[in-house]
Amino acid sequence: MEGGGSERQTGGRNSLSARDLRETLAEVGICTWSLNPTTGRVTVSENCHQVLGVPARSLSDHDAFQAVVHPEDRGARAAAVCCALNQGGRYSIEYRVRQADGEVRWVRSQGRAERGRGPAATRFRGIVYCIDERRQAEARLQRLQADLIHVSRLSAMGEMASALAHELNQPLGAISNYAAACDHFLAEPGPVRIDEARDAIAAATGQAQRAGAIIRRLRDFVTRGETDRQFESVAGLIGDACDLALIGVGEQGVEVRIDPGPPGARVLADRVQIQQVLVNLIRNACEAMRDSARRYLAITAAVQNDGVVRISVSDTGPGIPAAIADTLFLPFVTTKPTGMGVGLSVSRSIVHAHGGGFWVDSTATGGATFHFTLPTVED
Ligand SMILES: Nc1ncnc2c1ncn2[C@@H]1O[C@H](COP(=O)(O)OP(=O)(O)O)[C@@H](O)[C@H]1O
Ligand SMILES: [Mg+2]
Repeated sequence: MEGGGSERQTGGRNSLSARDLRETLAEVGICTWSLNPTTGRVTVSENCHQVLGVPARSLSDHDAFQAVVHPEDRGARAAAVCCALNQGGRYSIEYRVRQADGEVRWVRSQGRAERGRGPAATRFRGIVYCIDERRQAEARLQRLQADLIHVSRLSAMGEMASALAHELNQPLGAISNYAAACDHFLAEPGPVRIDEARDAIAAATGQAQRAGAIIRRLRDFVTRGETDRQFESVAGLIGDACDLALIGVGEQGVEVRIDPGPPGARVLADRVQIQQVLVNLIRNACEAMRDSARRYLAITAAVQNDGVVRISVSDTGPGIPAAIADTLFLPFVTTKPTGMGVGLSVSRSIVHAHGGGFWVDSTATGGATFHFTLPTVED
């Protein structure tokens, strides 16, 4: 008899009966719920304990439901329920629930509030299911992405190691010379040349500070750290990145022009990550020009009308090799014997995460110009 009844209810032999539907939903871990907007009563399907970790009978009203929601997510859930009941229409929210055994899991609840003739909702119902796996996969992906960004930063530094060692050797050598001079002024027979000794010590101190600044910049650049977005001046970002990326570049016969744009332009950005993008682009540009007769590097910034700043790195190298033009931004695409091929893909994902665009143009002289944009912030 039951089968016949269900068929009548669902309108045909081939349709699912209500029971089939219930069993199927339970099988795939979907729990159904409904809230009666007039009485405030909540009804939840029997498989509720699989998804929310508590028996269906314990979720009798909105307050009982709120009690299993993670305290940090209660406000957002209550607001979403209230909005659906007041305005009608779709309801969709992800929140954490705390199960009877204390375990926390993520769920997604979706539904619809329907209105009758009056302003109030007459019916509000939907489904809730576990999204722990998806959330964990997303968290894993984010960790991997952060690791890749960090590894690629370390690798950029590794490639620059000898230029950096050279850069550090200069102040260290100078300190040693000033110390020897000082020793000489103090040890000479006759009146002590105290003023000259003082000058030598002051000069040595200046060189020690110069070495300290190089080490500080390096340490900031390679430290891991959570992403940390602050209001940054565009000119400051470009200046810091150039200090690092241009180490040793002058000696390769590269002429450099830096135009940091208007001094007041600011962006909300992770300083180290944007520095990483610029270091990648500047180093690629210098590497591309290694065999070029003319080596001219331009790093420029310009604020555009649509509230974005465009930063460009332009070179006079041979341009992007045709063989990789279509796959340039994919990871592990490289034409260099010892290249990792992740610089451009990491740079592009950093810029996208900041809400900007990243692209390449060829320049009139045959070189390449990489551009990226960042939204500017108003004071
Ligand atoms: N400024 C440039 N001019 C010409 N080719 C470039 C330039 N920048 C990048 N490329 C090409 O793109 C490839 C990928 O660059 P990237 O992702 O930084 O990895 P890698 O530098 O390790 O090869 C390079 O190997 C090179 O062929
Ligand atoms: Mg590179």
